[in-house]
Amino acid sequence: MTDQTVRIAGVGAYLPSRVLSNEDLSTMVDTSDSWIRERTGIAQRHIAAEGETTADLAGIACRRALEHAGMDASDIDLIVVATTTPDFTFPSTGTLLQGRLGIAQGAAFDVQAVCTGFVYALAVADGFLARGQARNALVVGAETMSRIVDWTDRATCVLFGDGAGAMVLSAEETPGEHRENGLLATYLRSDGRYKDLLHVDGGPSSTQTVGHLRMAGNQVFRHAVTNIAESMTTIAGQAGVEIADIDWFVPHQANQRILEGVAKKLKIPTAKVVSTVSDHGNTSAASVPLAFERAVHDGRIGRGDLVLMEALGGGFTWGAALARF
Ligand code: UT7
Repeated sequence: MTDQTVRIAGVGAYLPSRVLSNEDLSTMVDTSDSWIRERTGIAQRHIAAEGETTADLAGIACRRALEHAGMDASDIDLIVVATTTPDFTFPSTGTLLQGRLGIAQGAAFDVQAVCTGFVYALAVADGFLARGQARNALVVGAETMSRIVDWTDRATCVLFGDGAGAMVLSAEETPGEHRENGLLATYLRSDGRYKDLLHVDGGPSSTQTVGHLRMAGNQVFRHAVTNIAESMTTIAGQAGVEIADIDWFVPHQANQRILEGVAKKLKIPTAKVVSTVSDHGNTSAASVPLAFERAVHDGRIGRGDLVLMEALGGGFTWGAALARF
């Protein structure tokens, strides 16, 4: 029996040049650098320039991922973009990106699972590649959260930022019944009963507006630690590996205290947890690929390492992906 190995061929990322510090925010709402650092671990976030859109951010991240993979845009026959802040209601950011990259083959579309979007997008792309429906995919998490944040609400505006991260996934036919390299497993969950705890209060069909992000932060926090830990132990069990065997944990970067809470619960040394939240805050679907790229380029994640990615977001949605890089 043959199987398709779905290899992570390259990674790329982009953060807009404008930086908004905690000090800057303290002149906009009733907050302080010390409150933000102590409660979240965030020191700054990047904000897209006026006119700079999600597709712009995604485009740069994709070109960097292609370069890292040593591939051309013409090699790509699938684009899956995870975003909750698309340039337009339609066409999708995926097709915008496809046009900009000059790709006229395959398929391109968006998935919407908010902060879990990148994990969902990996699972979707894996399905296409494993079934031979595409050979090389760009999987992207890209957000301009600054466009849907209520800048008068101190409970949320200090948390979010803009950015994009991308991976090139490549299918390779390999003999054997089990995958030993590349994406080993994905695990997706959702529970729509919790929609009111984290949502946007607008949309095309309801209010004909974009709306603003609303969150009951402390309730989301409790669900985050429990559900993320559950997804990590479940995916490890499915893949037949122990949590202790995993080299690197690349979590959704929402709050340093969540990262530490999950690590403590599963007895994971914090040195194995990639944290970039201080530098860019919560970039929703972009945060996992941003953190992954950082750890690849600073030499922490190396070829052959076992890496677990996980996230939780509005919906609720949550899930994990396990890969041997
Ligand atoms: O990406 C999707 C998943 N999202 C998350 O995982 C986010 C999860 N939640 C969190 O990260 C945390 O709950 C927050 C960082 C959002 C909030 O931290 P917290 O420790 O849960 O604080 P809290 O919401 O319980 O608020 C504590 C106090 C409140 O004041 P009172 O009622 O105790 O007087 C808030 O009004 O902190 C106040 N507060 C602030 N103070 C200064 C809330 N936001 C701010 C602020 N600056 N920016």
